Amino acid sequence: MQAVAAPAIVRLRDSADLAQYEIDPGLGAFAGYSRRRAEVVRQALGSGLRVPGGEAFVAVAGGVIVAYLLLVPAGPDQPWGRLNDPRILEIGIEVARGHRGRGLAQALFREAFSRPEVESRIYVATAYVWCWDVEASGISAHVYADRLLRLFERFGFRREWTNEPNITMEPANFLAVRVGREVPAALLRRFRSAQRGERAA
Ligand SMILES: CC(C)(COP(=O)(O)OP(=O)(O)OC[C@H]1O[C@@H](n2cnc3c(N)ncnc32)[C@H](O)[C@@H]1OP(=O)(O)O)[C@@H](O)C(=O)NCCC(=O)NCCS
Repeated sequence: MQAVAAPAIVRLRDSADLAQYEIDPGLGAFAGYSRRRAEVVRQALGSGLRVPGGEAFVAVAGGVIVAYLLLVPAGPDQPWGRLNDPRILEIGIEVARGHRGRGLAQALFREAFSRPEVESRIYVATAYVWCWDVEASGISAHVYADRLLRLFERFGFRREWTNEPNITMEPANFLAVRVGREVPAALLRRFRSAQRGERAA
């Protein structure tokens, strides 16, 4: 029997890099696995990579993207994004149905968060139940949230308070934040103030 090679973790340099890969049909949880999911995932990765400072790590098997981890400077739809500081980034992660439970999410986290530059940045995970795949998991949304949070915690994220309506509107949603060890105190102060809903100084 021929051994199946483990997916390779690749860092995409820019949106042109994306063109050489197919998108696995098991991706697209955040798009509700709609008919257009491959296109929606491609667009999401492409537009993230076009934002200055945006980065994507993908797991590739046989020319097909089966998982991704996207890091994009937070946008104006979030209070901390309105600080307009490229050192504050949002994280998105997804592993295709059929490729889960084999350590791919952890491999992507390891690749992205073992670089020295991450220690001078703040990463924010806005975890919304409507972007998960509770249905296929066979567990409740709360158990899903607990496992997801544990995964983030392994890589230095901590659950944090927020009064952001999009998060508080659903009890399973959560906010997790990773503050790098070398984040300047002034940046952290501004982030905390935005998190509390105070206007940027
Ligand atoms: C959550 C998700 C990324 C995990 O990917 P994965 O490759 O299966 O995860 P790994 O195999 O690397 O690691 C699994 C670890 O994460 C935990 N985990 C986190 N979320 C989980 C979930 N929904 N189901 C099962 N395990 C999950 C497990 O407890 C496991 O820990 P263990 O090693 O102690 O068993 C994947 O289920 C997924 O893409 N779900 C749909 C999209 C989603 O929910 N994205 C998160 C957006 S905030």
